[in-house]
Amino acid sequence: MDIAILPSLLAADYGCLAEECRRVAAAGADALHVDIMDAHFVPNLSFGPDVTAMAHRTVPGLPLHVHLMMTHPHLLMDRFIDAGAASLLIHVEAACDLSRTLAQIRQSGVRTGLTLKPATPAAAVFPFLAEVDEVLVMTVEPGYGGQPFLPGMLAKLADIRREADRLGQGKLGLLVDGGINNGTAADCAAHGANGFIAGSALFRLADMRAGVSEMRAATTAAYGRMCQG
Ligand code: DX5
Ligand code: ZN
Repeated sequence: MDIAILPSLLAADYGCLAEECRRVAAAGADALHVDIMDAHFVPNLSFGPDVTAMAHRTVPGLPLHVHLMMTHPHLLMDRFIDAGAASLLIHVEAACDLSRTLAQIRQSGVRTGLTLKPATPAAAVFPFLAEVDEVLVMTVEPGYGGQPFLPGMLAKLADIRREADRLGQGKLGLLVDGGINNGTAADCAAHGANGFIAGSALFRLADMRAGVSEMRAATTAAYGRMCQG
């Protein structure tokens, strides 16, 4: 049973991003989540390939989990692969050939993922489950950190986990992103999630290491109960 805790760089102190990357690595996180926004797919801008490359240079042992909130992810995906991404996630609502883009990512030796906005039904990713390592369910409207968790997304998690199990894909990573704290993370784990992306809840802590281990403990227990039940 693999639980993963991924702090989101979006909530870091931008005055010292390299130091913040080192703080995430020292906290025992499984990966660093890097949010890429294009001011078209979402109404905001964030980082690009150069900040991603900085993170890779700074903490080469920490996998970079790159979330492309972009209308045309295929136009820049090679730049993020070159920058050191370990996983690349594209949105199922993106304007690209999803299967082709996922295949190109996979051919580069990078893990693949599909992400859904809150209004997109679980069934939108069902045809692609065999083509991805993970599915990321947005639990807020993408674009900004610090928003409240949308509890209506719990049923979507359960639907995706059920379909993956039906297809024999018990190893599918099922992640959540937005409004994640120890309480909402445990609720998501009880509905089948095993990857937890948290921005404000982890970066605001003086002791991120304690925060990561508390979130890991809360979700491990809830996910274990879900697997048995
Ligand atoms: C939102 C981003 C999230 C964001 C979550 O569009 O995809 O990764 O950092 O922030 P919190 O945890 O503060 O809701
Ligand atoms: Zn994200």
